[in-house]
Amino acid sequence: MTTQNKKILITGGAGFIGSHVVRLFVKKYPHYLIVNLDALTYAGNLENLKDIEPQPNYLFEKGDITDEARVDELFHKYRFDGVIHLAAESHVDRSILDPLAFVRTNVLGTACLLKSSLAHWKDNMNDKLFYHVSTDEVYGSLGATGFFTEETPYDPRSPYSASKASSDHLVMAWHHTYRLPVMLSNCSNNYGSHHFPEKLIPLMINNILNDRPLPVYGKGENVRDWLYVEDHASAIDTIFHRGRTGEKYNIGGFNEWKNIDIVYLLCSIMDKHLGRPDGASAKLITFVKDRPGHDLRYAIDATKLNKELGWRPSLQFEEGLEKTVTWYLENQDWVKHVTSGDYQKYYDRQYIKR
Ligand code: NAD
Ligand code: TYD
Repeated sequence: MTTQNKKILITGGAGFIGSHVVRLFVKKYPHYLIVNLDALTYAGNLENLKDIEPQPNYLFEKGDITDEARVDELFHKYRFDGVIHLAAESHVDRSILDPLAFVRTNVLGTACLLKSSLAHWKDNMNDKLFYHVSTDEVYGSLGATGFFTEETPYDPRSPYSASKASSDHLVMAWHHTYRLPVMLSNCSNNYGSHHFPEKLIPLMINNILNDRPLPVYGKGENVRDWLYVEDHASAIDTIFHRGRTGEKYNIGGFNEWKNIDIVYLLCSIMDKHLGRPDGASAKLITFVKDRPGHDLRYAIDATKLNKELGWRPSLQFEEGLEKTVTWYLENQDWVKHVTSGDYQKYYDRQYIKR
């Protein structure tokens, strides 16, 4: 997609990754109008964007992507040239508790956006783009060796990953059937600032700080491939502007870690920050019942993105974790705000009463 004046709809911009994508686009492309459509679920928070709220090229619209009339109304109002679709239910553990919420938002919501995009672009698809943000979890689970490439067959195993896989298939179906210009990326696990403390890294940081047990599922042997969230946003920017229509790109930093090793590393970073004796926080580690159907290992091969578009991650993991811990320690008001309300109910259901 060219970088001439554009009106871009970003969905899920009040969430973790979405807020970083909105910030990058608003700052880097002052001649674009960025409209953020977000339902502000428990995971969406306008505080994530308060620094860019006064910018003249940024607007927020509250709404649900499953609400066809609302999505259509926004297309009429703004005549978008592009869509970057991040809105989703995103947490595997919640998908096990309430799978239909994931089908509704991730499958039906994506279909509504595709339908409106086609209706408004069908007479002139020139320089239009529907960019769908997806996950490596659609590929399923790896054994000890091998990587997910763009050719790896889909094999999702949780309600979350199955709903994201369905949404990916819908995006490609709209491309093949209706010629809608689309792109899709599948990224590994993200970490960084503004990450909701239900996911591994922010949950552990918050629990270490508050001297609470650190719940490691199973034996902590599962492996995830971690990417700093600002690097994910920069990859989306690269692909959105220079990727090939109809293509999918894997995004990752070749950075695999066992869960237990990450928890130990976080404990030692936090001990230093909090002035605790070395090893003090690690005493909080508690092995708990495993997640049902827990995928063993994810590992992304991002060679296509590196070779075709020259994208590379900017940060080493230790450096990114250090920045992340510092952000959480300096933004305790944010943590208090997002963990008030329903967070405690979810926490008790997930960790105390099971
Ligand atoms: P998040 O849960 O932090 O944020 C999701 C956002 O979507 C929230 O602001 C929420 O209010 C909004 N939303 C939810 N349902 C909505 C609806 N029906 N209508 C409108 N808005 C709605 O998620 P995230 O971690 O920032 O993930 C963003 C996207 O990136 C998702 O599509 C996810 O599948 C994908 N992804 C995430 C990761 C990761 O590690 N977090 C990795 C790869 C891909
Ligand atoms: P998570 O951050 O939920 O991301 P995903 O399941 O999408 O990869 O979990 C990352 C890994 O950490 C995963 O293997 C599950 C594990 N985990 C724990 O051991 N304890 C926890 O409390 C959480 C939330 C996750």
